[in-house]
Amino acid sequence: MNTFNELVKTRRSIRKFQDRPIEEDKLNAILKAALMAPSSKRCQPWHFVVVDDEDKLLQMSVCREMGCKFLDGAPVAVLVMAEDALSDVWVEDASIAAAYMQLAAEDLGLGSCWIQVRNRMKSDEQTTEDYLKEIVNAPDNMRIECIIAIGYKAEEKNAFDETRLKWEKVKRNSF
Ligand SMILES: Cc1cc2nc3c(=O)[nH]c(=O)nc-3n(C[C@H](O)[C@H](O)[C@H](O)COP(=O)(O)O)c2cc1C
Repeated sequence: MNTFNELVKTRRSIRKFQDRPIEEDKLNAILKAALMAPSSKRCQPWHFVVVDDEDKLLQMSVCREMGCKFLDGAPVAVLVMAEDALSDVWVEDASIAAAYMQLAAEDLGLGSCWIQVRNRMKSDEQTTEDYLKEIVNAPDNMRIECIIAIGYKAEEKNAFDETRLKWEKVKRNSF
C-alpha cells in the first residue's frame, strides 16, 4: 500500500509500455477511482470509453500530429468524455476524474500518460475530438477532454525531488 505522498512523488508520465495486458481487476480499480471522483453539484457528467482494441488504438495514435504516437503501444486507453450540456464545469469534472485514474494506476504499479484532446486538431479541417468520436461511435452531445493511456511500465523515471519544488509559486495571504 502506497502512502498518498509516495504516489504523488512517484507518478510520472509513462509513454513506453510492456506488451502485457492489464488484469481486469486492476482496470476496474482504476475506473472505480474515476467514478468516485468529485464533480460539481455531484452531477457526474463524465463517461469513460475503455479501448483495448489494437486497431482502434492504432487509429487513435494519429489523433494529433504529435504527443499521442505512443498509443499504438499501449494495452489500454481510456477516453475521458463528458456531456457538456449537463455542467458548465465539465472540463474540471473530467480532469479531476482523469487525474484520479492516473494516481490509481500508479498505486497499482502501472504507468499512465495524459493525452490532451480538447482544443487540439487532427488536421486543419478536423478536430481531434471529432476524429476520436467517430472511432468509438460517441454521440454528438459528448465532449472529450483527454485520453489516459495505461499499461505496465517499460521505462523508469525518477520520482520528484522534493528539494527542487518551486515553493516560490506559493504565496500566503497576498500575492
Ligand atoms: C493537461 C495536460 C495535457 C497533457 N497533454 C499531453 C499530451 O498530449 N501528450 C503527452 O505525451 N503528454 C501530455 N501530458 C503530460 C505532460 O507532458 C507531463 O505531465 C509533464 O511533462 C510533466 O511530466 P510528469 O507527468 O512525468 O511529471 C499532459 C499533461 C496534462 C496535465
